[in-house]
Amino acid sequence: MRVVTDARGLGPLRGCVFVPTMGALHEGHLALIRAARAGGGGPVVVSVFVNPTQFNDPKDLERYPRTLEADVAGCERAGADAVFAPGLEVMYPPREVVAVPRLPRVATEPGLEDRLRPGHFAGVCQVVKRLFDLTRPARAYFGEKDWQQLRAISAMVEQERMGIVIVGVPTVREADGLAMSSRNVFLKGDERVRARGLSEALCRAAGLGSVGEAEAEMGRVLAERGLNVEYAVVRDAATLERYEAGRPGRALIAARVGAVRLIDNAAWAGG
Ligand code: PAF
Repeated sequence: MRVVTDARGLGPLRGCVFVPTMGALHEGHLALIRAARAGGGGPVVVSVFVNPTQFNDPKDLERYPRTLEADVAGCERAGADAVFAPGLEVMYPPREVVAVPRLPRVATEPGLEDRLRPGHFAGVCQVVKRLFDLTRPARAYFGEKDWQQLRAISAMVEQERMGIVIVGVPTVREADGLAMSSRNVFLKGDERVRARGLSEALCRAAGLGSVGEAEAEMGRVLAERGLNVEYAVVRDAATLERYEAGRPGRALIAARVGAVRLIDNAAWAGG
């Protein structure tokens, strides 16, 4: 397994199939790597970089798990060819301004991540564009668990005419339905059981015919589990604007379980 830490080392990997991550890899990330491998094409490159510009809370950045050795081993098992693990000075060189691309509208839809984590998607788009500029991938893989991120990156790639194919990979779940996340390790005591509320709420909403009923039911299930709801809404799956009957819908949740913020989403076909 090749571990590359600077831009020069990426030369022979141009045109790669790319899986950007912040490390602390779990089965969800390994599913992205396996999908990238199965899709064929160039070498599979996984980046591991905890990007400071997308964190709103310095404490969250500080405690984000860093497990590079285990991550490299996981990448190898899942079939990656190389890991790109740059330092801060490679991603954000001291005398260079790394531009923040114009944010696509889907990144700032009212009532979702932008309201709760202002500046988050500016940081995500900035780092992803920088990673794309360095690795020059033909295709890149992102998890559906971060649905708004997936939509925002797809829109950015289209808007900036980057010519990269963006592939979304379904969320990998624990046996009880909890979506895999690097933040699940912070769930303590009964928080782990209460965290099931997110996937339960999405399942209950899936069977309901109107947006109003679906949103009310999600709120009810989350409250029953004692979760602090940030949003539990149904939106247009592609634009994340208000849902219009006949279009594909997406139910999206962000909620806090104690100090841990979790997000989840699922297709919604009511209406
Ligand atoms: O989804 C993530 O892990 C991050 O937001 C990403 C896309 C690697 C950018 O830092």
